[in-house]
Amino acid sequence: MKIIGTGSALPKKVVTNDMLAEFLDTSDEWIVTRTGIKSRHVITDEHLEDLGAEAVLKALEMSGLQPSDIDFFVCSNVISEYVTPGLSCVIAEKVGLTCPMIDINCACPGFVYALDIVETYYQAGKIKTALIVCAEEPTRMASWQDRGTCILFGDGAGAAVLTAGDNMKGTLLHTEPDVYKIWQLQTLVETPFITKQEQNIPMQLKGREVFRFAVNSGTTQISQLLQDLGIALDEVSWILVHQANQRIIDSIVEYLGVPASKFPVNIADHGNTSSASCPILLDECNRKGMFKPGDIVVFSAFGAGLLSATSVMEW
Ligand code: COA
Repeated sequence: MKIIGTGSALPKKVVTNDMLAEFLDTSDEWIVTRTGIKSRHVITDEHLEDLGAEAVLKALEMSGLQPSDIDFFVCSNVISEYVTPGLSCVIAEKVGLTCPMIDINCACPGFVYALDIVETYYQAGKIKTALIVCAEEPTRMASWQDRGTCILFGDGAGAAVLTAGDNMKGTLLHTEPDVYKIWQLQTLVETPFITKQEQNIPMQLKGREVFRFAVNSGTTQISQLLQDLGIALDEVSWILVHQANQRIIDSIVEYLGVPASKFPVNIADHGNTSSASCPILLDECNRKGMFKPGDIVVFSAFGAGLLSATSVMEW
C-alpha cells in the first residue's frame, strides 16, 4: 500500500516540566537531561475519540478520499473511556466510516502493526484502501505521584490513509514476552461470584531495562530488515522511531552510524504518546514537505509486551 494522507490532533493543554515540578520532586533539568522532553500535551476536557476523529478527518482531507471510499479501518489504542464498543467504532460514528474495522492493542508499536495488517489485507486482495488511527491517552495510565513515569507521557492521535501501491517493502515484528517491564492493572465490575483479589495498579515501568530493550530491538531490527530487503543504510532517507526518550533515539543513531539528521524528532514537545507517536511525527514531517517520492522511510517502535516492530516503506 501507499500513504496518501496523514493527520494528527493534540489536546490543547501544554504541561511544561516546570509545571510538573510544582507538585513532583523533579526539575526541568533532570527531565530534559534524562529524556529530552520539555513539555507534553495533556488531555483536560477533551475526549480521546474526538482527537482520533480530528486526526482521521485531516488525513482524509489530505488524501482526497471520502469516508465511503475506505475499505478497512484499524484503530490502535491502549486505553480509553470505552471498554466497548472498540474505539474504532466510536471514532467511525463521528466521521461516517462504515467499512469493516478492528481495534488493536499492541502498545507503542501499534502503528507499525497496523501498517502490517493493512498491507496483509491488501496483498490478500481484500481491500484497496485503508485508514489507520492511533489514539492514545497514556497520561491516564501513570500515577501522577510517580515522578519516574508520569513525566514521560503525553496524549494525542495520528492517522494515515493508504491506497493501492507496492510501497510497503517489508516488516519485522518481534515479541519478548515480559509482562512486568511495563504494566498496569485495573479492577473489573464486581460479581456475586468473584473470590479472587483484584487491584488497581497504575502503570509500572522498569525504566532502565525498557531503555536497553528499546535500543537493542530498534538497532537490531532496522539493520536486519534492511539487510533482508537488500537496502543499504545510506539509501534510507528517514528513520521515524517511537518517540519515548531522546537518549534512546541518540543511542540508536550512534549504534547504526547514521546521521542524526535522518531521524526526525518531536519528543521535546510531545513526550511519549504511545502508538500515536509515529503517526503524529509522520504527519508533522509530511506537512513540512519532508518526504519526496522514492524516499525510503523506516518506522521502528517498541513497547509493553515487550513488543517491537519495524517496517520499511518507499514514499
Ligand atoms: N526527577 C528527578 N529524579 C528522578 C525522576 C524525576 N522525574 N525520576 C526518577 N528519578 C530518580 C530516581 O528516583 C533515582 O534516584 P535514586 O538514584 O536516588 O534512587 C534516579 O533518579 C535514577 O533513576 P533511574 O530510573 O535509574 O533513571 P534513568 O536514568 O534510568 O532514567 C527513565 C529513567 C525512565 C527516564 C529512563 O530509564 C527511560 O526513559 N527508560 C525508558 C522508559 C520508556 O521509554 N518507557 C516507555 C516505553 S514505550
